[in-house]
Amino acid sequence: MIKRISAMPPLVFAGEADQLRERLADVCEGRAFLLQAGDCAESFDSTTDSIRDRLKVILQMAVVLTYSSGVPTVKVGRIAGQFAKPRSSSTETVDDVELPSFRGHIVNAAGFTEAERIPDPARLLDAYNQSASTLNLLRAFTTGGYASLGNVHAWNQQFVADSPAGQRYEQLANELDRALRFMEACGLDALESPDLRTVDFYTSHEALLLGYEEALTRQDSRTDDWYDCSAHMLWIGERTRELDGAHVEFLRGVKNPLGCKIGPTATSADVIALCEVLNPEQIPGRLTLITRMGADNVSELLPPILQGVHDTGHPVVWACDPMHGNTYAAANGHKTRHFEDVLREITGFFEAHRSVGTWPGGVHVELTGDDVTECLGGADELTDTDLVQRYETMCDPRLNGRQSVELAFRVAELLT
Ligand code: PEP
Ligand code: CO
Repeated sequence: MIKRISAMPPLVFAGEADQLRERLADVCEGRAFLLQAGDCAESFDSTTDSIRDRLKVILQMAVVLTYSSGVPTVKVGRIAGQFAKPRSSSTETVDDVELPSFRGHIVNAAGFTEAERIPDPARLLDAYNQSASTLNLLRAFTTGGYASLGNVHAWNQQFVADSPAGQRYEQLANELDRALRFMEACGLDALESPDLRTVDFYTSHEALLLGYEEALTRQDSRTDDWYDCSAHMLWIGERTRELDGAHVEFLRGVKNPLGCKIGPTATSADVIALCEVLNPEQIPGRLTLITRMGADNVSELLPPILQGVHDTGHPVVWACDPMHGNTYAAANGHKTRHFEDVLREITGFFEAHRSVGTWPGGVHVELTGDDVTECLGGADELTDTDLVQRYETMCDPRLNGRQSVELAFRVAELLT
């Protein structure tokens, strides 16, 4: 299977990965903001509508962030390849039945039966094909006019538009319309400009299955450098960031922009060592450190790490993952996260950066465009008992469309 994938065309091109690195260099220097968002575990059963709706929500959030902050938003999806999941436990037990854990659609199926949990190598090829078709759709949407700023109203789905954040978004979209009409009246047809008609949208996933990643690693004909062409950006998870581990060793050898999750056990020295290995030439935009400390820990744990890295002069994009440090089991056993904890970690992240004098470069969130009930709180004040209604995630709980747009407004307030 790996051999077959090695012979397939690359999913993304080296030049695109370089372009993302340049955009991230702007984030590094405080001239742009990163929005990295998408599913925790993407499904092979994703429909066209669900892919489009995820894109819609990300576009909405980006408009809110750009409009408020006045700096460009670099848009990176956890999409078109986010199929492999690291698990804390290798088995899962339900009603005294113990089965191997679900490891993402690239490995096995999510259903709780023995047959579904058996790893199937054919899924590697399915992952490649699913990534290719998802990417094809995203490229069509982002370059074919759908993502044009003239369409800002169309991205607001009905169930989002009915919420306070959706209404606030509608107002912002009206203001944008007015500005565009004003420019038109001045003789400038802004919507004809490719800058407003198309959107640069990049893909990313956790590079967990190194065999698969290696099969898609190709040498750039322009420079002879190696790129992992399964996505524009790859990240190393919290569980696989050992300095002498295989994931760090593999990813330091490709030229893509890299991410690395940094959890509460990391010391300043650990993080500096990772910077030295993953970005020895200190190239701005090469390395994004995605901190996920938990809302209760961020104020204490983050500043010394920021200070330590800052003192070395390493150029880093700092992004906040406010999801993975704030997961807990609700009374009915469903994994969940509270909107207020998510916001509290982001607030702590901004405060930490303000205190050290570094740029709070971005956020990394798990979301869906669908009307699910997986995270608590938000303007709808979802509670424990609401979780059963539409709990659809295959792995971690995601913000729904309304909560995502609400979060964008709250982050925008922190940015201004
Ligand atoms: C994830 O991003 O889905 C994930 C598993 O994160 P982490 O590696 O930070 O736990
Ligand atoms: Co997750």
